[in-house]
Amino acid sequence: MGFIDASRAERPIARGRVSRDAARRRRTRVGELEAQLEQLRRVLRLAVVFGGDKTSPGAVINQFPNARSWKSYEQVAEDLAAALRRLGFEVVDLVPDDMRLGERLRAADVNLAWLNTGGVQGLGSMCHAPAMLEMMGIPYIGHGPLAVGGLDFKHLFKRDLLLLGLPTAPFFVWHPAFGSLQPRLDPRFREVFGDFRGPFVVKPVSGRASQNVMVVDDAADLEDVASGIFETTENHVLIETFLSGREYCVAVCGPTVARDGRLERLPQPFVFSAIERVLDADERIFTSMDQRPITTDRVRLLHPTGDRASFEQLSALATRVYRELGIETLVRLDIRADSAGRLHVLEANPKPDLKSPEGDKTSLVCAGLAAEGMSYDDLVLGLLADRLDILFSQRRGTVHHLTRLLEQRH
Ligand SMILES: Nc1ncnc2c1ncn2[C@@H]1O[C@H](COP(=O)(O)OP(=O)(O)OP(=O)(O)O)[C@@H](O)[C@H]1O
Ligand SMILES: [Mg+2]
Repeated sequence: MGFIDASRAERPIARGRVSRDAARRRRTRVGELEAQLEQLRRVLRLAVVFGGDKTSPGAVINQFPNARSWKSYEQVAEDLAAALRRLGFEVVDLVPDDMRLGERLRAADVNLAWLNTGGVQGLGSMCHAPAMLEMMGIPYIGHGPLAVGGLDFKHLFKRDLLLLGLPTAPFFVWHPAFGSLQPRLDPRFREVFGDFRGPFVVKPVSGRASQNVMVVDDAADLEDVASGIFETTENHVLIETFLSGREYCVAVCGPTVARDGRLERLPQPFVFSAIERVLDADERIFTSMDQRPITTDRVRLLHPTGDRASFEQLSALATRVYRELGIETLVRLDIRADSAGRLHVLEANPKPDLKSPEGDKTSLVCAGLAAEGMSYDDLVLGLLADRLDILFSQRRGTVHHLTRLLEQRH
């Protein structure tokens, strides 16, 4: 195998003029990666992991509450598996994430897993599957356990944004163990919000699909609302200023991408699907996709020239977040403007919805693929190839079994 990860090593240089040498090294590496994928297609045993149901017999020892609203994501796992099969991978299983995950992966002799799970139950559930796979020794497509926690716990992510000087709404984290929530008396609350009187947004630190996200107009109601969210999640609660402007999303992933089934290596992370989420006039919070599926009329693709200012700001934010937080695979940034039109990052979704577009139903990440000349299958191939590239170049110790597969004569 032995190859040098030329493009990843050259990242800082790629900010400036890309030398001809760098471009040639990228082409060479892409050719090598394509040849490896070609061989792996026939022999790799893949599993797409979705969220296991804690109520199914044998799934867990004791049932715990779900700090993060639970969903199986099985349908999207099916879409991903179908794409992998169309791409020529002959063995692709669907496996639920629960305490039998290891037995199931061993029984199916899985070599590589695709994580499409938010976990089964408990605290930090997004971290459980990658942590188990690290422990069991199975490489995966997805963020590492600590990285995913730092993204899925919105307050941790927002602290990173503050440290990096990136814009995010002022925020306050509350837990009943800190004592009662007294906006008027708490000096820390006043330090964060100053004279701001509302409206506020109150939400779980780890959540999905606008579940339990509330607008609170009067600070006097914050304690009741935050206590209600704590009752549901048994986890910290985030309070931030309500941003009343337009809402945007942008996706960003690693530099190895596929177009028309062919791999390409970009000199920087791939930023795509910059969209505006279209809100109804009276819709203060984007309605949960559990209640109203995301349809094409709810998504306006930004135009690089027609929407130049917002397009460029979103691209710059996405690139900085990806690089400076050392993110290694796809995230979707949710961003909203304040009343003056200034953009603020709401969150980075470490497992954005990857539903395959069908009719007028789409996903926020896939809405801009056609404009990039890419299909859903190209997205899936690119994410797989980018991950393999990282594993083979930076985590060689985790892929000895894949190297052996490549060395076998077929
Ligand atoms: N500070 C804020 N100001 C204005 N609106 C907000 C704010 N925070 C959240 N929202 C609204 O609530 C929605 C859900 O919030 P957020 O993205 O933080 O949580 P989520 O439930 O994890 O979202 P999803 O999983 O749908 O991306 C946002 O899409 C936005 O419409
Ligand atoms: Mg969101």
